[in-house]
Amino acid sequence: MGVDKLKLAVLISGRGSNLQALIDACKDPLFPAEIVLVLSNRPQAQGLDYARAAGLPVLTVDHKNYPDRESFDDAVHDEIVKNGADLVALAGFMRILTPGFVNKWPRRMINIHPSLLPDYKGLDTHSRALADGKKEAGCTVHYVVPEMDSGPIIVQKRVPILEGDTPEILAERVLEQEHIAYPEAVRIVTDELSG
Ligand code: GAR
Repeated sequence: MGVDKLKLAVLISGRGSNLQALIDACKDPLFPAEIVLVLSNRPQAQGLDYARAAGLPVLTVDHKNYPDRESFDDAVHDEIVKNGADLVALAGFMRILTPGFVNKWPRRMINIHPSLLPDYKGLDTHSRALADGKKEAGCTVHYVVPEMDSGPIIVQKRVPILEGDTPEILAERVLEQEHIAYPEAVRIVTDELSG
């Protein structure tokens, strides 16, 4: 019998490459977490296929079926609780969450963002970094607080910005680091929660 693992709910909206990185990390018997739910707000999210292929419980809570943000967030919260998750990992989840929801998961909800926060909160991070002539870009995993992209930082990874970079090329270089950063952050949070 192994030691109890931290139970992770992963929330996605699309491609799901960070979800796949977490799925791969969980294959290591020594990884301290396991995925108990993959939830998407979009029925067509490609990441749902990765989750199904890994035999994980998947669920769509389509935001279009809810009259407002509060009722959508309540439904998501109920599903996370029902599946027994200890930690919520936002992995390309592109919905703004209400403070009421966020405050139910203090230091128990984390997010990955494709910039070196506090620089470039929000969208189009890579094109903004290029337009500003930055020499470095990267990604951040942070705790989620009600203010968007603003919670305490858990892990950051840096990459150089190179001559001739386009937003797409830079995004690819950063994404490679995201896939390393997210499992690393889950290990750190697990240590913190168990310590
Ligand atoms: C990732 O680059 C992630 O950092 C970003 O969306 C992408 C999702 O890719 N998240 C945000 O911009 C959140 N503000 P994925 O679905 O392949 O993991």
